[in-house]
Amino acid sequence: MAASADHVKALVRAHAEGDEDAFYSIALQLAAKSARQGHNRLAAELRELVDQARAQPINKREPIPVVQPRGELAELVSASYPNVHLADMTLAESVRTQLQRVLHEQRQRERLENHGFAPIYRLLLVGPPGTGKSMSAAMLARELSLPLFTVRLDGLISRFMGQTASKLRLVFDAAARNRAVYLFDEFDAIGAERRIEGDVGEARRILNSFLLFLDEAPSESLVVAATNHAVILDSALFRRFDAVITYDVPSAEQAIQVLRRRLTSMNTAEVDWDDLMGHVSGLSHAELVRAAEFAAKDAILSGDDVLSTSALRSALDRHHTTRHS
Ligand SMILES: Nc1ncnc2c1ncn2[C@@H]1O[C@H](COP(=O)(O)OP(=O)(O)O)[C@@H](O)[C@H]1O
Ligand SMILES: [Mg+2]
Repeated sequence: MAASADHVKALVRAHAEGDEDAFYSIALQLAAKSARQGHNRLAAELRELVDQARAQPINKREPIPVVQPRGELAELVSASYPNVHLADMTLAESVRTQLQRVLHEQRQRERLENHGFAPIYRLLLVGPPGTGKSMSAAMLARELSLPLFTVRLDGLISRFMGQTASKLRLVFDAAARNRAVYLFDEFDAIGAERRIEGDVGEARRILNSFLLFLDEAPSESLVVAATNHAVILDSALFRRFDAVITYDVPSAEQAIQVLRRRLTSMNTAEVDWDDLMGHVSGLSHAELVRAAEFAAKDAILSGDDVLSTSALRSALDRHHTTRHS
């Protein structure tokens, strides 16, 4: 048998943590090791097993109870079961490390709780639009096999003028009952008191009820608030979070990685990536993805899957000129 004791231990650990990616990558290491030791048949079988397991549709692998918000809650919250993995994201090293830490603590929460500690569960994500804040909330839900409940605060506040605080209460109560990732998107809508015209009392009530919620929120659920504007948030708010993660537009190298990852189904053999480095500055991840998609669809519609440097370059430059329109 080619399995080393270390591999078996690592497999058990990955399983216990629910870390599917680690589990399969250890299995693949084991396959590689078997191949080196001449056990080619075992190596091939292992690889095939991993491929088959990964190809299964998610809902076959882990039946998650379908929790759909009902009644009044359905107007405030949308539920989804995202399929985004940490490995799908291109992130600054510091951001990746912090997200990994959150996953690690969440997966080990029982061990922490047995000693009287809570895992990180209140996160504030700050950064420019299109840099992966909402995507990160989806990724956290997927990696922890939890549903994602999204609350769009800007919509909530304008729709329920005067009763936003009581509507939020419904969401908070649901968070206490269902273990899930709760994403409060466009979170600055809460801190931006002066923008709520005419009713300062209402803005205070919303802020206070949110602060109270953060203090009382059960650590079983993950509360993720995302905002494009950190500056307008009250400092009392900042202090209530366990971690504040700051996102930014990608470096030139990361930008190229975003493009390449979006174009894996295309023939990019002729693309001069170094040339494109000069055309990505300042673009967000979302803008890069859109430019890649634009160029790819153009190529497909004009008859083939071969991408040229010039097609990508003009898609990127086009973004630079249209982004403020
Ligand atoms: N860090 C990232 N890595 C890969 N793709 C990204 C990243 N950030 C954003 N994207 C792409 O842009 C889209 C929009 O990103 P989103 O998470 O909604 O941005 P934000 O919430 O920060 O405004 C995503 O669905 C994804 O296609
Ligand atoms: Mg977003």
